[in-house]
Amino acid sequence: MDRRELIWAAIKVLPKAYVPYSHFHVAAALLCRDQTVYTGINIENAAYTPTVCAERSAFFRAVNDGKREFEAIVVCGGKDGVLTDYCAPCGVCRQVMREFCDPKTFRVILAKSEEEYREFMLEELLPMGFGPENLL
Ligand code: THU
Repeated sequence: MDRRELIWAAIKVLPKAYVPYSHFHVAAALLCRDQTVYTGINIENAAYTPTVCAERSAFFRAVNDGKREFEAIVVCGGKDGVLTDYCAPCGVCRQVMREFCDPKTFRVILAKSEEEYREFMLEELLPMGFGPENLL
């Protein structure tokens, strides 16, 4: 699974975002260690706070399927589904990534297209994070 394929997996599901309130479509494609891919989209709610982000949708689908090891996630998003800018994960989603991923090796790829993307290590996006090993 190369970067382009993973980016395309996210872009492909962007129209599935359920965004009647913000009209801001977000999609994610999460690459598991076993090379399977789980996509996710944001799902909004009339009461606003139950809204779930695309990244967490992807993680929760994967974890429900028994996956626990992850290599990378692609995130893309924009108003009306148009990818004009990079869409960075919110703080809550970064914390969910921190629960399951090694911050030194997990890659977060923000994509505008298959050719235009920026890549970060989770550690760069969530420095000095609090994770499961802090509770040992
Ligand atoms: N959103 C995501 O899906 N992921 C992010 O990391 C940033 C924000 C969604 C939540 C909401 O549906 C919309 O974008 C506007 O905040």
